[in-house]
Amino acid sequence: EQIEKGGFPHFMIKEIFEQPESIQNTIRGRIYFENGSGRIQLGGLADYLDRLASAKRFIFCACGTSWHASLVGEYLFEHFTRIPVCVEYASEFRYRNPIIYKDDIVFFISQSGETADTLAALKEAKSKGALTIGICNVVGSSISRETECGVYIHAGPEIGVASTKAFTSQVITLSLIALAIASKRGEISTKLITEYLHELNSIPKKIQNLLSQNSIMQEIAKEFNNASNFLYLGRGFNFPVALEGALKLKEISYIHAEGYPAAELKHGPIALIDEFMPVVFIAIKDSLYPKIISNIEEIKARGGRIIAIASEGDTNIESLAEYVIRVPQIIDFFSPVLTSIPLQLLAYYIAVLRGCDVDQPRNLAKSVTVE
Ligand code: G6P
Repeated sequence: EQIEKGGFPHFMIKEIFEQPESIQNTIRGRIYFENGSGRIQLGGLADYLDRLASAKRFIFCACGTSWHASLVGEYLFEHFTRIPVCVEYASEFRYRNPIIYKDDIVFFISQSGETADTLAALKEAKSKGALTIGICNVVGSSISRETECGVYIHAGPEIGVASTKAFTSQVITLSLIALAIASKRGEISTKLITEYLHELNSIPKKIQNLLSQNSIMQEIAKEFNNASNFLYLGRGFNFPVALEGALKLKEISYIHAEGYPAAELKHGPIALIDEFMPVVFIAIKDSLYPKIISNIEEIKARGGRIIAIASEGDTNIESLAEYVIRVPQIIDFFSPVLTSIPLQLLAYYIAVLRGCDVDQPRNLAKSVTVE
């Protein structure tokens, strides 16, 4: 086992540090440049691209972290393809006699490809005649076999119960699919596709850079590992990252944490703010930056302790946040693959300081194959 951990104390931290490589593997063989123009090739979907491009709506079905990746996928798909997306918890969807039309396209997103609720939802969608697509990590898994077609995320084996590298590879895969559909529909120019594909290619290097600053996450973990509650706030593409950051902390450190869209703050969570409440903001320089800055000001005025995930070069934020973690510049819609990583590290270092069993947290299983 020590050899499998490759010198790291836990699988989880090994898998966090593997992300430049796992993302490279997700992209490999799928992005091409010919005469300066970028193109996407997804073998598993090639025969279905026309149907995808003329879809009326997509449904994304998943559980846990894969559900959070699906939420990022919703933002990406709607942004690029202009086709509506519904994101569903598989466990809810399967039991509510869901309305599924024959021309619906239902994606099942699952690291293991074995989650019982997701598999059951797949059977339901199939019985109603929808086209089913699997986005799995484990090759040959039940969901990948039962779906009509799909795309493997190729993140490599994920052993730590708390999902890390599968999340970022799921988001990259959904980005590629969204761009491929948008291009087929003519929603996006070759020039822009090319620009975005170059940006996707640059992500592994940016993650490397981000991981090299992990000592600040250790420092923050030392300061806050005795907290009883945490709040995670983000907007737009980074709202699902707030949910995922909170889930990571709950899963492995057993600290109560909630993720919220930052603007919902005033409808409840703001009542919780005091000097004992660390608040993690994902506040990168995107189109919603001025909005999130005003949310940060609201928390600061009430004595909350602020940790900000911010863009490189943003000096403004230093006067508002007690701790600032810098992520390299990236186009808004790909930012979740960077901003989620400091949150994975924060959860990890806090759990280690609290003496928790990081790779096998109490009561949790890597794959929930029974209801
Ligand atoms: C379990 C795991 C989570 C995972 C979820 C969905 O709860 O502990 O890490 O996100 O199942 O699993 P799946 O394999 O379907 O992505």
